[in-house]
Amino acid sequence: MSDIKKGLAGVVADETSISKVNPETNSLLYRGYPVQELASTQPFEAVAYLLWHGELPTDEQLAEFRVAERAHRALQPAVKAAIDQLPLDSHPMDEVRMAVDAIGAIETAGSGNVLDAVGTPKENLERSLRLFAALPAIVAYGQRRRRGLEPVDPRDDLDYAANFLWLTFGEEADPVVVEAFNRSMTLYAEHSFNASTFTARVITSTLSDLYSAVVGAIGALKGPLHGGANEAVQHIFEEIGSAEKVAEWLDAALAEKRKIMGFGHRVYKRGDSRVPTMKASLDTLVEFYDRSDVAELYATLESEFVGRKGIYPNLDYPSGPAYNLIGFDTLTFTPLFVAARVTGWTAHILEQQASNALIRPLSAYNGVDERHIAGYVPDA
Ligand code: ACO
Repeated sequence: MSDIKKGLAGVVADETSISKVNPETNSLLYRGYPVQELASTQPFEAVAYLLWHGELPTDEQLAEFRVAERAHRALQPAVKAAIDQLPLDSHPMDEVRMAVDAIGAIETAGSGNVLDAVGTPKENLERSLRLFAALPAIVAYGQRRRRGLEPVDPRDDLDYAANFLWLTFGEEADPVVVEAFNRSMTLYAEHSFNASTFTARVITSTLSDLYSAVVGAIGALKGPLHGGANEAVQHIFEEIGSAEKVAEWLDAALAEKRKIMGFGHRVYKRGDSRVPTMKASLDTLVEFYDRSDVAELYATLESEFVGRKGIYPNLDYPSGPAYNLIGFDTLTFTPLFVAARVTGWTAHILEQQASNALIRPLSAYNGVDERHIAGYVPDA
């Protein structure tokens, strides 16, 4: 029993060349590049390219990649129909999961049997690109349909982040907002063997197809201990209301042993490497929208909670209020995380496929001792 690693904490399950998390130096590298450098200098398309191909694209490669990405931005009628059959009060994560499932069923139709559905490395790279390109329209449509709005056609003249905002709000976003949103996409893109990525790798290890792996990853991401925390942070902000109510609210929450969403991390125990970059973007949004009240609530809850528990914010803490300021519905926050993380998930799916071993850990049985059915006569 002493060998059990509950929650697989501290277990190194495999190698990866996609990202390196170093809690000692509080750093996160994508293919060797510090994430904060990528977030501040690269369009998200270039980061997606880096995660899949291992190198940043040249200007020519980026131009070619953009043409391919822009060709798959439109909301497919069958996917829209799949979403439309869901109740308006379905959770947007369920909508996105359903949409990816529909795309998978359509794209692998005719593959005949489970052995053929898995596809070649080239096909899976193309599938990854198409999913990456399609998700903004799916996420944006979810928010628009809940607001009673028709979908908006994608814009070929806009980069990924600007087009995503266009698809959601039907108007061009200010460059300040585009920059903050682009950064958030890069910061959310990849984080080694987190729960959703590991889920994708487990599913891939059975030789199931890429879409099934992404659908499973979306299910894992939905939980509030993982991606769902960015939505939960906003609920907490609304519950507290204002900075002067933080101390009283926190006393009550901690007395009830509530988890304070947006704080803590399985790997980082001295602060999440992505927070300073996203916090800087939140600061620009606070200034742009003239919402110092958000900054005050943010700072007060952070200092009160860190002061009492010594547990630091994770990426969801600044990104939740940032997405709120931009105008996304709270329930849309985790689907935004899906749109970003699909790049990391698919990079890991490709890596797992290239060097596969079925992921099948052992368990220590702690149930009742062997017993027998009265009157059972064994077969001769
Ligand atoms: N609020 C209150 N207490 C906390 C929090 C928190 N956010 N995080 C950790 N703790 C406490 C636990 O209650 C526990 O206390 P105990 O030892 O007295 O029982 C101790 O710190 C250790 O916490 P664990 O949950 O066991 O640590 P673990 O490494 O498993 O958890 C996790 C990491 C799940 C992220 C946790 O910190 C948490 O639940 N945070 C809130 C949810 C959240 O923000 N998730 C986002 C993760 S990052 C991302 O997905 C981008």
